[in-house]
Amino acid sequence: MNRADLNKKTKDIASMFDEVAPRYDLMNGIASLGQHIYWRKQTVAAVDARPGQRVLDIAAGTGTSSEPFADAGVDVVAADLSEGMLAVGRKRRPDMTFVQADVTDLPFEDEEFDAVTMSYGLRNVADFPRALREMYRVTKPGGRIVVLEFSTPAFAPFAAIYKNCVLPAIPPVAKVLSSNPESYVYLGESILDWPGQAELAQHFADAGWADVKYRNLTGGIVAIHRGFKPSK
Ligand SMILES: C[S@@+](CC[C@H](N)C(=O)[O-])C[C@H]1O[C@@H](n2cnc3c(N)ncnc32)[C@H](O)[C@@H]1O
Repeated sequence: MNRADLNKKTKDIASMFDEVAPRYDLMNGIASLGQHIYWRKQTVAAVDARPGQRVLDIAAGTGTSSEPFADAGVDVVAADLSEGMLAVGRKRRPDMTFVQADVTDLPFEDEEFDAVTMSYGLRNVADFPRALREMYRVTKPGGRIVVLEFSTPAFAPFAAIYKNCVLPAIPPVAKVLSSNPESYVYLGESILDWPGQAELAQHFADAGWADVKYRNLTGGIVAIHRGFKPSK
């Protein structure tokens, strides 16, 4: 069974998600205790895309994060590293555009998209500052970035319960339900290793994004970071 570690080698990440793919969406709902629906809605609202606009959903996986855009008449490209995740997506949503792509080396022209978004993907990229620069490159001036990612709960006692009780409870559930239970050990490790909200916001600014803001959801279990590419 393939499981990545905190070195996050691209090959290990891709094969881990290839194995996760068949039951990814089922586990996602259970591990988040249903909160994922609310988190996704807030992310889609933050992107604020209009029908006809072109949006890149990178690390789209099976396309679950891209669907609301397609359903609203937005021209969304669902791109992902893992062929296994894309295969599940293409089968489920043959009407959507799926593209194999690494966020650190995107196969798109400069300034192609009105917005770029990424849900639960950035944490899996070893060179994530480079990913933030690549996303900046393919975004039109005036366009925006919206990233949903696991984060650091703001209230210390809640953070302790989350770290010591909630995260350790996920791998045993995954043992029963997931096609790659080991990957849920990596999930907990990678969440605890990830920069906090303010530090991550600084990485966005370093990549060129302006007016960077973040918003905690469910006490900071996840956070949405948003920024703009300055107009010319
Ligand atoms: C947890 S899934 C998220 C899928 C989807 N965005 C969602 O919200 O359900 C993370 C995805 O990130 C993708 N990924 C990891 N590293 C990547 C990279 N360097 N470039 C593109 N996608 C990547 C994985 O293949 C996986 O499908």
